[in-house]
Amino acid sequence: MTLPGNRPLPDNRGTRWHVLPDAHSLATAVSERILEAARTAISGHGVFRIVLAGGATPAAVYRQLAASASDWSRWQVFFGDERCLPADHPQRNSVMASECWLGRVALPAANVHVINAEAGAGAAAQAYAAVIEQARPFDLVLLGMGEDGHTASLFPGQTHAAGELVHAVHAAPKPPPDRVSLGLAALNDAAGVLVLVSGAGKHAALQRWKRGEDLPVARLHGQAGVDVYIDNAAATGEVT
Ligand code: 6PG
Repeated sequence: MTLPGNRPLPDNRGTRWHVLPDAHSLATAVSERILEAARTAISGHGVFRIVLAGGATPAAVYRQLAASASDWSRWQVFFGDERCLPADHPQRNSVMASECWLGRVALPAANVHVINAEAGAGAAAQAYAAVIEQARPFDLVLLGMGEDGHTASLFPGQTHAAGELVHAVHAAPKPPPDRVSLGLAALNDAAGVLVLVSGAGKHAALQRWKRGEDLPVARLHGQAGVDVYIDNAAATGEVT
């Protein structure tokens, strides 16, 4: 079911499912959506506050943003989660985002708020909570989803203090075990929430989400619902 302009009709939880033919068109649709949100926020209140996703899926989006034009000086960039690895480690979400995009455009370094996860999950979470308290609400939050239905570093079966803005995560099932993650209280304090889901491996978790299973990703709602961008492989489970 779609609305005018081919926008999907939200389901009863305010989640809008956008299916794109492949990973490239997914990246294009998401980067266009981000640039549009930036224009609206900057013209509306002079600044665009965005939270970035980690993992591999957003890299194609970040590369497209690196080739785009925007008033980068008005962007304030935060991270949804980080891996407790050295600051320059290639597996760091901050390093991936910098190499694909942030280090390639005129976005002031002072506007990029990295999680100092090299300091250890506890200390880094505490320090970042003060940053997030100051920054929220966000204009846009980007997130990925794991094959178990985790998002950011909020994993099934792990519990955290309700209302805590930033969590220290230990024994994460996805390496590395120590991580820092924004909590639902922070991730949902956003005008827009986009979840990027690519690849046949994500199909089962998507089905569980749609069936209403209480997965971490299913607890996202934002201020105005959630937009899930899915490629056809994830939507069908067919390896292309
Ligand atoms: C991380 C991510 C994590 C990621 C999902 C999907 O640091 O690992 O923040 O939540 O978004 O695991 O990862 P892929 O995009 O690589 O499939």
